[in-house]
Amino acid sequence: MSKYIIEGGRRLVGEVPVIGAKNAVLPILAATVINNNTSTIFNTPNLRDVEVMEQILVSIGCKINRVDNVIFVDSRNLSKIKIPEELVREMRSSIILMGAMLTRCGEIVVSYPGGCEIGPRPIDLHLKALRQLGATIEESHGFLHCKAEKLKGCDIQLDFPSVGATENIMLAAVKAEGTTIIRNAAREPEIIDLQNFLNGMGAKIHGAGTSIIRIDGVDNLTSVEHTIIPDRIVAGTYMVASAITGGEVILKNIEVEHIQSIIAKLKETGCMIYNNCTTLKIIGPKKINAIETVQTLPYPGFPTDMQAQMIALLSIANGTSIVTETIFENRFKHVEELVRMGANIKIAGKVAIIKGVKELTGAKVTSKDLRGGAALVLAALAANGTTVIEDTFHIERGYDSLEKDLLALNADIRKV
Ligand code: EPZ
Repeated sequence: MSKYIIEGGRRLVGEVPVIGAKNAVLPILAATVINNNTSTIFNTPNLRDVEVMEQILVSIGCKINRVDNVIFVDSRNLSKIKIPEELVREMRSSIILMGAMLTRCGEIVVSYPGGCEIGPRPIDLHLKALRQLGATIEESHGFLHCKAEKLKGCDIQLDFPSVGATENIMLAAVKAEGTTIIRNAAREPEIIDLQNFLNGMGAKIHGAGTSIIRIDGVDNLTSVEHTIIPDRIVAGTYMVASAITGGEVILKNIEVEHIQSIIAKLKETGCMIYNNCTTLKIIGPKKINAIETVQTLPYPGFPTDMQAQMIALLSIANGTSIVTETIFENRFKHVEELVRMGANIKIAGKVAIIKGVKELTGAKVTSKDLRGGAALVLAALAANGTTVIEDTFHIERGYDSLEKDLLALNADIRKV
């Protein structure tokens, strides 16, 4: 298993470009099976999760080419409806293929995605909505066998603005008979990107980014070209890297509109932030201010995918901060590892109480999940001494050039 070895205490300085969003390209790759044609996707990140989704598409008959950050998909010869179980296990968000395959061929067999490191991750909202659209779904022996003679548009009220459920419904409604309205839809920027991709192939979708999305079923779809939006969580992670080291970092090729909640919280910690729409400079303060409260919420609230990184930053603030995780049940696994580095953090249910310490010390720690692992890297950048981070494969699921980018920003990091 690979490890990162990081010598802490160096200010990060320089410029870093931010690549396309993992959580935009995954549903968009699933959507490529719908048009029975070709799709060309630009600005895609090179990640294990993207590779797994590509393998899934190839396993059902798609032809895929990747050149640098461009992925070319030809979905004209689908041959299978059963998604390989080992690939679903590796990446639970492959459940998004249900909506796409029901639209394309009216049938899919997929294994029940297990929970993951951050919680049980149920899919009840997905299944309830697809059944409302006319799908029959049998669950047996750990598999879901979904069929739909004809998908019929309808009004769907989501109990929770689930990102994945919103995406699955959009994909299932593209060619359904009539109109589908999703209420209490997720408003994340990745939903807007999926709408733009689908409309690019001839779908008729409006309202993504708001709580009400309307999909008018269409019959014919064409080939499509699309550029993925920048990854707002990678951008936020690099912003915290600058903040936690008292650095001065410029982020390029970002969408500043998508990271307003992160900007607001980092300003509260004392960071100076200057930006236009696609570039941002962040200067970390000499001493981090504690923040009274950070609460993770559906977009446009503060993102749960930035909770761990924020806790790492606040662990060296002057004062006590409170972070509440309202989205996932078990997303504090990084805390015990940060405590090994000298952080003073107490967990009470969904709440983390972080009493800032003067400095963290390097230690041997283990990443338990994607964003928690990123938080350990950030803590190591600021810690006094050497930190060894085990199981970096978690981190590489969501960051396609973390080590290279941090080295370019003057960090002392190497992978062994
Ligand atoms: C997406 O996951 C992202 N993943 C996650 O990013 C992100 O944390 C999450 O949205 C929230 O923003 C991708 O886009 C691939 P949800 P998703 O459905 O779709 C519960 C990362 O680090 N829920 O909005 O799975 C669920 O258990 C990853 O990049 C149900 O109860 O998120 C969770 O508590 C981690 N029933 C909450 O809703 C359902 O049917 C949010 O889940 C569906 C979800």
